[in-house]
Amino acid sequence: MSKVKAAVFASGTGSNFQAMMEADLACDVVLLVCDKPGAAVLDRAARRDVPTFVFDPKSFASRANYEAEIIEKLQEVGVTWIFLAGYMRIAGTTLLQAFEGKIINIHPSLLPRFPGKDAIEQAYHAGVEKTGVTVHYIDEGIDTGPIIATESVEIFPSDTIETLQTRIQSVEHYLYPQVINQLILK
Ligand code: GRF
Repeated sequence: MSKVKAAVFASGTGSNFQAMMEADLACDVVLLVCDKPGAAVLDRAARRDVPTFVFDPKSFASRANYEAEIIEKLQEVGVTWIFLAGYMRIAGTTLLQAFEGKIINIHPSLLPRFPGKDAIEQAYHAGVEKTGVTVHYIDEGIDTGPIIATESVEIFPSDTIETLQTRIQSVEHYLYPQVINQLILK
């Protein structure tokens, strides 16, 4: 039986994309969608022969317009699940309605604490003793959809933002593939 098809959406470095590619995923990642021409994640996709759809949001009249084009690409290749991995845009109703209940995101904090950008820095500067990683369904808010899984990461007094980030990302890299497989095989 052929595997379920998925797309990853990313804007940056792509270490989570890489971790998914190296994991034993229960789906095939058939497309990488990227809104940042030149992003490092595109090199990672090229090395793995994963086709990409790269777009520049500024060249579209609206979010609905570029999402309509993304949806067309996703449907062409039979994608049923979308995994956001450092995709720095809010999903609009066009995308959310087309893939209802099938779009998940990973965020580097224990939501609802520290949503949005710089979540690791926010937690570090807040002086809390622990932060973590959250995998959640998305909605139209910023990191506000229903939570699927979390894992805590302790913040040590000796931590710098960099050491904390490394520990958080290493949790992301095994947690995301694990949760993806649980959802797909459910
Ligand atoms: C990750 O920390 C993820 O939680 C957040 O964006 C970051 C992406 O990192 N949403 P990378 O591009 O996967 O290395």
